[in-house]
Amino acid sequence: MIVLELRSIDKSYRRNSPILRHLDLTVQRGDFISISGQSGAGKSTLLNIIGLLDTFDRGSYTLFGKSIRKKDFSKLQYYRDNTIGFAFQFFHLIPNVTVRENLLYSFIASNQSLRMRDLNRKIKLVLERLDLLSVEHQNVTLLSGGEKQRVALARSLVREPKILLADEPTGNLDPNNADRVVEILAQYCQKGNSVILVSHSEDIVQRAGIRYRLSHGRLVSYGC
Ligand SMILES: Nc1ncnc2c1ncn2[C@@H]1O[C@H](COP(=O)(O)OP(=O)(O)OP(=O)(O)O)[C@@H](O)[C@H]1O
Ligand SMILES: [Mg+2]
Repeated sequence: MIVLELRSIDKSYRRNSPILRHLDLTVQRGDFISISGQSGAGKSTLLNIIGLLDTFDRGSYTLFGKSIRKKDFSKLQYYRDNTIGFAFQFFHLIPNVTVRENLLYSFIASNQSLRMRDLNRKIKLVLERLDLLSVEHQNVTLLSGGEKQRVALARSLVREPKILLADEPTGNLDPNNADRVVEILAQYCQKGNSVILVSHSEDIVQRAGIRYRLSHGRLVSYGC
């Protein structure tokens, strides 16, 4: 089942300086996709478009069979809340509240409902898998870079989005934790979700089932 399809997407921020050019991408249910490419190639731009945080200039975007148009952009909150999850390159955690509160608010914002006891169990489980239980009640602002990075992923996982966009989720991690994160993402796909992972690390991108490199504004199959 196709979950999203981009066809001939163009995007530029400045005239005569295209970032994405006739870019095509099809994502199926359960796909684990990695995207690598030079710094500035447009990887985060592409994730922002897929995640409905930015618009595109030309082309078509179909998400779960629905055509996404620029004019509908302000009406797409449902998908941002319930369908697509982000683990941002620069974390974007809610500052000065605890790790637990970051996960809690993320879940509440997704408009899903769960009994408090079950939600607490879910939060603990996600934190445990990312080795974050010991910092559950700490202020996120005081965490290390690698801890913040894992909280960014935990915050997304707790709402179980059908499409998870992970922008450099292992950039600040030691090899053990990086391994753990990729394993969690792979398992997340096996449950029928789709993951698009952006990374500069050769070891990390190799672990995805489908590998692309973003080059000259397009995705090219890589290392298959
Ligand atoms: N909001 C914006 N306004 C203007 N230019 C932008 C904006 N966002 C990104 N750019 C430019 O678009 C290009 C692609 O940026 P992007 O962040 O997508 O690259 P990236 O592949 O994610 O790089 P990195 O690997 O360093 O994270 C860069 O040249 C950047 O300066
Ligand atoms: Mg980036």
